[in-house]
Amino acid sequence: MAEVLLENLTKVYDKKVTAVSRVDLHIRNGEFLVLVGPSGCGKTTILRMIAGLEEITEGKVSIDNTVVNDVAPKDRNVAMVFQNYALYPHMTVFDNIAFGLKMAKMDKALIKQKVAQTAAMLDMEKYLDRKPKALSGGQRQRVALARAIVKSPKVFLFDEPLSNLDAQLRTQTRAELKRLQQQLNTTAIYVTHDRTEAMTLGDRIAVIKDGRLHQVGEPLAIYNDPANLFVANFIGTPGINLIPGSLMSVGGKFTFKNKEMEKPLPHLSAGAENGTPVMLGIRPENVFVAQDGIKTTVDLVEQLGGESLLYASSDGGYKVIARINGNLKLDQNSNINLDFKAEEAHIFRESDGQRIR
Ligand SMILES: Nc1ncnc2c1ncn2[C@@H]1O[C@H](COP(=O)(O)OP(=O)(O)OP(=O)(O)O)[C@@H](O)[C@H]1O
Ligand SMILES: [Mg+2]
Repeated sequence: MAEVLLENLTKVYDKKVTAVSRVDLHIRNGEFLVLVGPSGCGKTTILRMIAGLEEITEGKVSIDNTVVNDVAPKDRNVAMVFQNYALYPHMTVFDNIAFGLKMAKMDKALIKQKVAQTAAMLDMEKYLDRKPKALSGGQRQRVALARAIVKSPKVFLFDEPLSNLDAQLRTQTRAELKRLQQQLNTTAIYVTHDRTEAMTLGDRIAVIKDGRLHQVGEPLAIYNDPANLFVANFIGTPGINLIPGSLMSVGGKFTFKNKEMEKPLPHLSAGAENGTPVMLGIRPENVFVAQDGIKTTVDLVEQLGGESLLYASSDGGYKVIARINGNLKLDQNSNINLDFKAEEAHIFRESDGQRIR
């Protein structure tokens, strides 16, 4: 087990592309931390700096209270699993798994024992004599995992290790990975752009955009209490509803207002200047069909069995999605009103996306 500390971590490529900017993050002992964010936001670069595969422009990476900026990758006691497996095609599964141990000049009998043990853990004993090309994608990914596990590293670094697998195998392997990490009790940092994967795998998730850390916390805390518009919008499927309007302030009381509605916001205290342009964010599960509320036209109802997703267009020109219990039956183009409880809404300043509380 190990803890990893990133302080002011910054990467500038070729003196011009800032890929990672001043990231501060403390990954705890035994924790499964997921780095999530859109393509190009700097996730792989962060991981490679922790692994020692990429030079650090500014800031520090520490593992167990030791700064490792100048420590060679092989001496950092971390193991990285890549998206493309990076297996040696001419070697058998056994040799692929054993490679790192052989390089470290471990005793042959011990290598054999460790490889056997790891292969058993991943249900790969039958395949030890095969070459990678004779394996399925899922099996290759297990070899890549085995190669990391067998080294008993202090920290696992995963860079989208499941993205080459089909949806079903991905779900299954995801569950397995989580179980293995708990069983081995090794600190893990896992990169993905898949929000569902982040929500289900992470003890905590760190949301990155444009090289910056936007929020870190437990998945549900981030879902229920997003720090800004980007995080609110990025986490959750289907996404949060965003309704444009203005924040009105009268005598210290706040109201959200647009052409279709006026909604008192008793839960807001800090507020903002009267008339500030804002976005009101409300999760689909908090929207319901009502007598009053936003006037909409039904675009589509998807019955998912037990619950329904209602897609509607408001008279004001924005879309609203409602997640409704039961099998909702509504005709396309019918007119209905949708409403929500004010205290479940988040208010974001339009100019910079910051939450107004
Ligand atoms: N070797 C490099 N030289 C110059 N720019 C680079 C280099 N590697 C990455 N970048 C740039 O740094 C930024 C971050 O890249 P990075 O690979 O870390 O993103 P990512 O979050 O892992 O994206 P993805 O989800 O697509 O894998 C991108 O703008 C990318 O173009
Ligand atoms: Mg990447």
